[in-house]
Amino acid sequence: MLQLSLKRKAGIYVMQTVSQSDIVRDLRQLGIMQGAEILVHSSLSSIGHVEGGANTVINALLEAVDPHKGTVIVPTITANAQQNPDNPPLYNVHNTPCWTGTIPETFRHRQDAVRSLNPSHSTAAIGTNAENLMIGHEDCRTPCGFGSPYYRLSRRGGKVLLLGVTLKSNTSFHMIEDLADVKFHLQPQPTECTIIDCMGKRHLRSILLHKWGTRRKYPILHQPFLELGIMREGLIGQAASLLIDAKGMVEYTEALLRKDPFYLVDRPIGSH
Ligand SMILES: CC(C)(COP(=O)(O)OP(=O)(O)OC[C@H]1O[C@@H](n2cnc3c(N)ncnc32)[C@H](O)[C@@H]1OP(=O)(O)O)[C@@H](O)C(=O)NCCC(=O)NCCS
Repeated sequence: MLQLSLKRKAGIYVMQTVSQSDIVRDLRQLGIMQGAEILVHSSLSSIGHVEGGANTVINALLEAVDPHKGTVIVPTITANAQQNPDNPPLYNVHNTPCWTGTIPETFRHRQDAVRSLNPSHSTAAIGTNAENLMIGHEDCRTPCGFGSPYYRLSRRGGKVLLLGVTLKSNTSFHMIEDLADVKFHLQPQPTECTIIDCMGKRHLRSILLHKWGTRRKYPILHQPFLELGIMREGLIGQAASLLIDAKGMVEYTEALLRKDPFYLVDRPIGSH
Protein backbone atom coordinates (compact mmCIF):
# COMPACT_ATOMS: atom_id res chain seq x y z
CA MET A 1 0.00 0.00 0.00
CA LEU A 2 1.29 3.47 -0.82
CA GLN A 3 2.12 5.76 2.07
CA LEU A 4 0.58 9.21 1.76
CA SER A 5 3.28 11.79 2.35
CA LEU A 6 1.29 14.00 4.68
CA LYS A 7 3.45 16.11 6.98
CA ARG A 8 2.61 15.68 10.59
CA LYS A 9 2.58 18.80 12.71
CA ALA A 10 1.68 18.60 16.41
CA GLY A 11 -0.30 15.43 15.76
CA ILE A 12 -2.38 16.96 12.95
CA TYR A 13 -2.00 15.91 9.33
CA VAL A 14 -1.69 18.93 7.05
CA MET A 15 -1.97 19.17 3.31
CA GLN A 16 1.30 19.45 1.42
CA THR A 17 1.83 22.34 -0.98
CA VAL A 18 2.73 20.94 -4.38
CA SER A 19 4.44 22.88 -7.20
CA GLN A 20 4.75 22.30 -10.96
CA SER A 21 8.31 21.01 -10.57
CA ASP A 22 7.20 18.57 -7.83
CA ILE A 23 4.58 17.16 -10.20
CA VAL A 24 7.02 16.88 -13.14
CA ARG A 25 9.51 15.08 -10.89
CA ASP A 26 6.83 12.63 -9.72
CA LEU A 27 5.56 12.04 -13.29
CA ARG A 28 9.13 11.20 -14.38
CA GLN A 29 9.53 8.86 -11.44
CA LEU A 30 6.34 7.05 -12.46
CA GLY A 31 7.77 6.61 -15.98
CA ILE A 32 6.39 9.46 -18.09
CA MET A 33 9.04 10.73 -20.48
CA GLN A 34 9.24 13.27 -23.32
CA GLY A 35 7.35 12.03 -26.39
CA ALA A 36 4.80 10.02 -24.39
CA GLU A 37 1.11 9.98 -25.33
CA ILE A 38 -0.94 9.88 -22.13
CA LEU A 39 -4.65 9.83 -21.38
CA VAL A 40 -5.15 11.34 -17.91
CA HIS A 41 -8.10 10.72 -15.56
CA SER A 42 -7.67 12.87 -12.46
CA SER A 43 -8.67 14.22 -9.07
CA LEU A 44 -7.15 17.63 -8.31
CA SER A 45 -7.92 17.52 -4.58
CA SER A 46 -6.05 14.22 -4.14
CA ILE A 47 -2.69 15.83 -5.07
CA GLY A 48 -2.49 18.14 -2.03
CA HIS A 49 -2.63 21.92 -2.25
CA VAL A 50 -1.41 22.60 -5.79
CA GLU A 51 0.07 26.09 -6.23
CA GLY A 52 -1.89 27.58 -9.12
CA GLY A 53 -4.52 24.81 -9.18
CA ALA A 54 -5.56 22.86 -12.28
CA ASN A 55 -3.45 24.94 -14.69
CA THR A 56 -0.29 23.96 -12.80
CA VAL A 57 -1.13 20.27 -13.15
CA ILE A 58 -1.79 20.75 -16.89
CA ASN A 59 1.50 22.66 -17.30
CA ALA A 60 3.33 19.86 -15.50
CA LEU A 61 1.77 17.15 -17.68
CA LEU A 62 2.74 19.10 -20.81
CA GLU A 63 6.25 19.76 -19.54
CA ALA A 64 6.67 16.04 -18.81
CA VAL A 65 5.70 14.87 -22.32
CA ASP A 66 6.95 17.97 -24.21
CA PRO A 67 4.03 18.95 -26.46
CA HIS A 68 6.41 19.23 -29.46
CA LYS A 69 7.14 15.52 -29.07
CA GLY A 70 4.25 14.00 -27.12
CA THR A 71 0.54 14.53 -26.40
CA VAL A 72 -1.67 14.86 -23.32
CA ILE A 73 -5.31 13.74 -23.62
CA VAL A 74 -8.08 14.16 -21.06
CA PRO A 75 -11.63 12.74 -21.02
CA THR A 76 -14.19 15.53 -21.43
CA ILE A 77 -17.21 13.26 -21.05
CA THR A 78 -20.71 14.73 -21.21
CA ALA A 79 -22.82 11.54 -21.26
CA ASN A 80 -25.63 11.02 -18.81
CA ALA A 81 -28.00 8.19 -17.94
CA GLN A 82 -31.02 10.01 -19.40
CA GLN A 83 -29.70 10.07 -22.96
CA ASN A 84 -31.35 7.60 -25.33
CA PRO A 85 -33.15 7.63 -28.74
CA ASP A 86 -36.12 9.49 -27.16
CA ASN A 87 -33.86 12.00 -25.44
CA PRO A 88 -30.87 12.54 -27.74
CA PRO A 89 -27.87 14.61 -26.64
CA LEU A 90 -27.13 18.04 -28.06
CA TYR A 91 -23.37 18.49 -27.80
CA ASN A 92 -21.65 21.81 -28.40
CA VAL A 93 -17.89 21.40 -28.51
CA HIS A 94 -17.39 24.90 -27.03
CA ASN A 95 -20.19 25.10 -24.49
CA THR A 96 -21.00 21.64 -23.19
CA PRO A 97 -19.10 21.18 -19.92
CA CYS A 98 -17.63 17.85 -18.93
CA TRP A 99 -18.17 16.08 -15.59
CA THR A 100 -14.77 14.43 -15.41
CA GLY A 101 -13.23 17.05 -13.11
CA THR A 102 -11.63 20.47 -12.87
CA ILE A 103 -8.44 19.43 -14.65
CA PRO A 104 -10.18 18.31 -17.90
CA GLU A 105 -12.67 21.19 -17.73
CA THR A 106 -9.76 23.67 -17.46
CA PHE A 107 -7.74 21.78 -20.08
CA ARG A 108 -10.45 21.89 -22.76
CA HIS A 109 -10.57 25.71 -22.51
CA ARG A 110 -6.85 26.07 -23.33
CA GLN A 111 -6.28 27.86 -26.62
CA ASP A 112 -4.19 25.01 -28.03
CA ALA A 113 -6.59 22.24 -26.95
CA VAL A 114 -8.40 20.20 -29.60
CA ARG A 115 -11.65 18.64 -28.37
CA SER A 116 -13.19 15.72 -30.22
CA LEU A 117 -16.77 15.87 -31.50
CA ASN A 118 -18.22 12.71 -29.97
CA PRO A 119 -21.51 13.80 -28.33
CA SER A 120 -21.13 11.64 -25.20
CA HIS A 121 -17.50 10.55 -24.57
CA SER A 122 -15.41 13.35 -26.09
CA THR A 123 -11.77 13.86 -25.21
CA ALA A 124 -9.45 16.87 -25.54
CA ALA A 125 -5.78 16.87 -26.44
CA ILE A 126 -2.75 19.16 -26.56
CA GLY A 127 0.47 18.17 -28.27
CA THR A 128 2.06 17.02 -31.44
CA ASN A 129 -0.57 14.34 -32.26
CA ALA A 130 -3.62 16.12 -30.84
CA GLU A 131 -5.40 16.48 -34.19
CA ASN A 132 -4.63 12.91 -35.31
CA LEU A 133 -5.98 11.47 -32.10
CA MET A 134 -9.17 13.59 -31.96
CA ILE A 135 -10.23 13.53 -35.60
CA GLY A 136 -13.33 11.54 -36.61
CA HIS A 137 -14.50 10.63 -33.10
CA GLU A 138 -18.02 11.73 -34.10
CA ASP A 139 -18.00 9.16 -36.91
CA CYS A 140 -17.41 6.21 -34.59
CA ARG A 141 -20.36 3.82 -34.31
CA THR A 142 -19.88 3.67 -30.53
CA PRO A 143 -18.49 6.30 -28.09
CA CYS A 144 -15.29 4.53 -26.98
CA GLY A 145 -14.67 1.75 -29.48
CA PHE A 146 -12.90 1.26 -32.79
CA GLY A 147 -11.48 4.55 -34.16
CA SER A 148 -12.06 6.56 -30.96
CA PRO A 149 -9.18 8.40 -29.23
CA TYR A 150 -9.26 5.70 -26.50
CA TYR A 151 -8.71 3.05 -29.19
CA ARG A 152 -6.11 5.02 -31.15
CA LEU A 153 -4.03 5.73 -28.06
CA SER A 154 -3.87 2.01 -27.28
CA ARG A 155 -2.70 1.22 -30.81
CA ARG A 156 0.08 3.85 -30.70
CA GLY A 157 1.90 2.70 -27.59
CA GLY A 158 0.16 5.24 -25.35
CA LYS A 159 -0.39 5.14 -21.62
CA VAL A 160 -3.31 5.77 -19.29
CA LEU A 161 -2.50 7.81 -16.19
CA LEU A 162 -4.93 7.55 -13.27
CA LEU A 163 -3.91 10.58 -11.21
CA GLY A 164 -5.41 10.17 -7.75
CA VAL A 165 -8.19 7.89 -9.03
CA THR A 166 -8.53 4.12 -9.39
CA LEU A 167 -9.25 1.69 -12.21
CA LYS A 168 -12.92 2.55 -11.63
CA SER A 169 -12.32 5.75 -13.66
CA ASN A 170 -10.61 4.01 -16.57
CA THR A 171 -12.96 4.75 -19.50
CA SER A 172 -10.73 2.67 -21.80
CA PHE A 173 -12.31 -0.44 -20.30
CA HIS A 174 -15.46 0.49 -22.25
CA MET A 175 -13.34 0.42 -25.41
CA ILE A 176 -12.23 -3.10 -24.52
CA GLU A 177 -15.86 -4.12 -23.81
CA ASP A 178 -16.54 -2.95 -27.36
CA LEU A 179 -13.64 -4.89 -28.87
CA ALA A 180 -14.68 -8.04 -27.00
CA ASP A 181 -18.27 -7.48 -28.17
CA VAL A 182 -19.90 -7.80 -24.73
CA LYS A 183 -23.66 -7.41 -25.00
CA PHE A 184 -24.52 -5.24 -21.99
CA HIS A 185 -22.66 -1.98 -22.47
CA LEU A 186 -24.40 -0.34 -25.45
CA GLN A 187 -28.01 0.69 -25.96
CA PRO A 188 -29.70 -1.61 -28.51
CA GLN A 189 -30.99 1.22 -30.72
CA PRO A 190 -28.89 4.06 -32.17
CA THR A 191 -29.54 7.66 -31.09
CA GLU A 192 -29.61 10.57 -33.54
CA CYS A 193 -27.24 12.98 -31.80
CA THR A 194 -26.79 16.67 -32.63
CA ILE A 195 -23.24 17.99 -32.63
CA ILE A 196 -22.24 21.66 -32.94
CA ASP A 197 -18.63 22.08 -34.06
CA CYS A 198 -16.19 24.94 -33.37
CA MET A 199 -17.54 26.93 -36.35
CA GLY A 200 -21.11 26.65 -35.02
CA LYS A 201 -22.07 24.16 -37.74
CA ARG A 202 -24.62 21.45 -36.85
CA HIS A 203 -24.04 17.77 -37.62
CA LEU A 204 -26.27 14.76 -37.04
CA ARG A 205 -24.75 11.40 -36.16
CA SER A 206 -26.42 8.08 -35.40
CA ILE A 207 -24.55 6.50 -32.48
CA LEU A 208 -25.06 3.50 -30.18
CA LEU A 209 -24.83 5.26 -26.82
CA HIS A 210 -23.52 3.83 -23.57
CA LYS A 211 -26.06 1.76 -21.62
CA TRP A 212 -26.08 2.68 -17.93
CA GLY A 213 -26.90 0.62 -14.90
CA THR A 214 -24.47 -2.33 -14.97
CA ARG A 215 -22.07 -2.12 -12.02
CA ARG A 216 -18.45 -2.60 -13.03
CA LYS A 217 -15.76 -4.24 -10.89
CA TYR A 218 -12.76 -2.79 -12.72
CA PRO A 219 -10.53 -2.47 -9.60
CA ILE A 220 -10.28 -6.28 -9.39
CA LEU A 221 -7.66 -5.96 -12.16
CA HIS A 222 -5.38 -3.77 -9.98
CA GLN A 223 -3.23 -6.62 -8.64
CA PRO A 224 -3.08 -8.65 -11.90
CA PHE A 225 -2.01 -5.53 -13.85
CA LEU A 226 0.80 -4.86 -11.35
CA GLU A 227 1.94 -8.49 -11.40
CA LEU A 228 1.90 -8.59 -15.21
CA GLY A 229 4.03 -5.44 -15.31
CA ILE A 230 1.52 -3.51 -17.42
CA MET A 231 0.82 -1.04 -14.58
CA ARG A 232 3.01 0.90 -12.18
CA GLU A 233 1.97 2.77 -9.07
CA GLY A 234 3.43 5.86 -7.46
CA LEU A 235 2.65 9.18 -5.82
CA ILE A 236 2.06 12.43 -7.70
CA GLY A 237 2.18 14.96 -4.92
CA GLN A 238 0.04 13.12 -2.38
CA ALA A 239 -2.10 11.39 -5.00
CA ALA A 240 -1.85 7.60 -5.25
CA SER A 241 -1.53 7.20 -9.01
CA LEU A 242 -1.35 4.45 -11.63
CA LEU A 243 0.36 4.39 -15.02
CA ILE A 244 -0.94 1.72 -17.41
CA ASP A 245 0.50 0.51 -20.70
CA ALA A 246 -2.62 0.76 -22.88
CA LYS A 247 -1.63 -1.98 -25.36
CA GLY A 248 -0.88 -4.49 -22.60
CA MET A 249 -4.13 -3.57 -20.86
CA VAL A 250 -6.15 -4.17 -24.04
CA GLU A 251 -4.50 -7.49 -24.85
CA TYR A 252 -4.97 -8.91 -21.37
CA THR A 253 -8.48 -7.58 -20.71
CA GLU A 254 -9.88 -8.35 -24.15
CA ALA A 255 -8.79 -11.99 -23.79
CA LEU A 256 -10.45 -12.12 -20.35
CA LEU A 257 -13.72 -10.69 -21.65
CA ARG A 258 -13.80 -12.94 -24.70
CA LYS A 259 -13.61 -15.90 -22.32
CA ASP A 260 -16.10 -14.45 -19.81
CA PRO A 261 -17.98 -11.28 -20.87
CA PHE A 262 -19.25 -10.83 -17.28
CA TYR A 263 -15.80 -10.98 -15.64
CA LEU A 264 -15.78 -7.25 -14.84
CA VAL A 265 -19.43 -6.74 -13.88
CA ASP A 266 -21.89 -7.93 -11.28
CA ARG A 267 -23.07 -11.08 -13.00
CA PRO A 268 -26.74 -10.93 -14.09
CA ILE A 269 -28.92 -13.64 -12.53
CA GLY A 270 -29.20 -16.67 -14.81
CA SER A 271 -25.90 -16.03 -16.66
CA HIS A 272 -23.04 -18.51 -16.46
C1 LIG B 1 -15.13 13.07 -9.58
C2 LIG B 1 -13.70 13.58 -9.41
C3 LIG B 1 -13.33 14.49 -10.57
C4 LIG B 1 -13.65 14.35 -8.10
O1 LIG B 1 -12.29 14.69 -7.79
P1 LIG B 1 -11.99 16.01 -6.95
O2 LIG B 1 -10.59 16.06 -6.66
O3 LIG B 1 -12.92 16.05 -5.79
O4 LIG B 1 -12.50 17.17 -7.91
P2 LIG B 1 -11.72 17.93 -9.08
O5 LIG B 1 -10.67 17.10 -9.70
O6 LIG B 1 -12.81 18.42 -9.98
O7 LIG B 1 -11.05 19.15 -8.38
C5 LIG B 1 -11.84 20.12 -7.70
C6 LIG B 1 -11.55 20.10 -6.23
O8 LIG B 1 -10.15 20.28 -6.00
C7 LIG B 1 -9.99 21.00 -4.77
N1 LIG B 1 -9.12 22.13 -5.07
C8 LIG B 1 -9.40 23.41 -5.41
N2 LIG B 1 -8.25 24.10 -5.60
C9 LIG B 1 -7.25 23.24 -5.39
C10 LIG B 1 -5.85 23.37 -5.42
N3 LIG B 1 -5.24 24.52 -5.74
N4 LIG B 1 -5.10 22.26 -5.13
C11 LIG B 1 -5.70 21.10 -4.81
N5 LIG B 1 -7.03 20.92 -4.76
C12 LIG B 1 -7.78 21.97 -5.05
C13 LIG B 1 -11.35 21.38 -4.27
O9 LIG B 1 -11.72 20.39 -3.30
C14 LIG B 1 -12.20 21.25 -5.49
O10 LIG B 1 -13.51 20.86 -5.19
P3 LIG B 1 -14.63 22.01 -5.14
O11 LIG B 1 -14.59 22.68 -6.48
O12 LIG B 1 -15.89 21.23 -4.90
O13 LIG B 1 -14.22 22.89 -4.03
C15 LIG B 1 -12.70 12.40 -9.34
O14 LIG B 1 -12.94 11.64 -8.16
C16 LIG B 1 -12.82 11.46 -10.51
O15 LIG B 1 -13.61 10.50 -10.51
N6 LIG B 1 -12.01 11.70 -11.57
C17 LIG B 1 -12.00 10.87 -12.76
C18 LIG B 1 -13.19 11.19 -13.65
C19 LIG B 1 -13.14 10.38 -14.94
O16 LIG B 1 -12.25 10.54 -15.75
N7 LIG B 1 -14.11 9.46 -15.12
C20 LIG B 1 -14.20 8.62 -16.24
C21 LIG B 1 -15.56 8.00 -16.23
S1 LIG B 1 -15.82 6.57 -17.27
